[in-house]
Amino acid sequence: MRPANPLQPIPKDRPFTDMARIFNFSAGPAVLPEEVLSRAGDEILDWRGTGMCVMEMSHRGKEFMSIAAEAEKDLRELLAIPSNYKVLFLQGGATLQFAQIPMNLLAGKTKADYVVTGEWSKKAVKEAQAYCDVHIAATSEDQAFTYAPKQWNVRPDTAYVHYCSNETIGGVEFHEVPKIEKNLPLVVDASSHILSRPLDVSKFGLIYAGAQKNIGPAGLTIVIVREDLTGKAQKGTPTVMDYKLQAAADSMLNTPATYAMYIAGLVFKWLKTQGGLAEMEKQNIAKAKLLYDFLDASSYFKNPVAKDDRSRMNVPFTLKDAVQDDAFLKGAEKLGMVQLKGHRSVGGMRASIYNAMPVEGVRQLVSYMKEFEAKHG
Ligand SMILES: Cc1ncc(COP(=O)(O)O)c(C=O)c1O
Repeated sequence: MRPANPLQPIPKDRPFTDMARIFNFSAGPAVLPEEVLSRAGDEILDWRGTGMCVMEMSHRGKEFMSIAAEAEKDLRELLAIPSNYKVLFLQGGATLQFAQIPMNLLAGKTKADYVVTGEWSKKAVKEAQAYCDVHIAATSEDQAFTYAPKQWNVRPDTAYVHYCSNETIGGVEFHEVPKIEKNLPLVVDASSHILSRPLDVSKFGLIYAGAQKNIGPAGLTIVIVREDLTGKAQKGTPTVMDYKLQAAADSMLNTPATYAMYIAGLVFKWLKTQGGLAEMEKQNIAKAKLLYDFLDASSYFKNPVAKDDRSRMNVPFTLKDAVQDDAFLKGAEKLGMVQLKGHRSVGGMRASIYNAMPVEGVRQLVSYMKEFEAKHG
């Protein structure tokens, strides 16, 4: 028998009385599949008869090594990652990649080209400017970052071309992989839509994503890099930031984010049980359609993004009368729908509807928006 837990009892009072889980529209850290959380809960004290929580395991022990290997295997399977690509499980968030990419990929060159479609690609540019001569190959700034530019003016002697395939704040998504000169590495920040749809990895030099949206908990960053692009890090690159060294050490040059990797592994298993990324894409198209169809029919709510470039994952919208924003958010919260406030840099609302958001959550949101419009429109 375990002795009674001396920690403070868990407070039972909560605003949402009749539901076990709320609908969480956060842009990240974001909703995770209930099945994954429940499995992690079941295994919290004893992972498969080891008598240990995964958090307590040595990253070099055989138990954790098997968890890490399985996670990589499943991710490779889900994305059909070719064998000449390395998969790295790193830390520092997508933000560290903004610097790590030029440090590793300039490979003696001095130029890098960037496409700017919103807040995240702007940040990537700012960070890269410390390392190289950055040229903006295309931008949608002329229309307040509400579309994805297809014409890119790329320099032939650039070391690589970087873009953000889904701008989480503006809700702009590239639905096709842009075509560039064959021998130039295409680098993508896919943080907020990775695993929401199939992706042809072979078209990229490097793909990176912070985990806290469609992959798992914050603290883990996934990098998928073509092997021939590694091994050319600039002098002074910290060891843990050198892709080649990390790949050679199976991402364990230092202690990796072990628990986050374990949860990511469970998410990969969950995705496989859902039918993989093709099935995920179908579900995501259907969920996004529900919301955009309503927005297009509404005279009270509005989404500013060009129709062809709207994100399936992050749906920003405004109310006709911003004075009602607070009332809208409070009413949603009462019904168990949270984190709908838009990013502080743009205001309005944003519904992030990642893989783990059930269609029922989107239906409930649309139904609430209809009612709200009828009352205030
Ligand atoms: C597209 C995109 N890139 C980069 C980042 C930064 O990620 P991190 O906070 O993991 O550094 C985010 C964070 O939300 C993002 O949405």
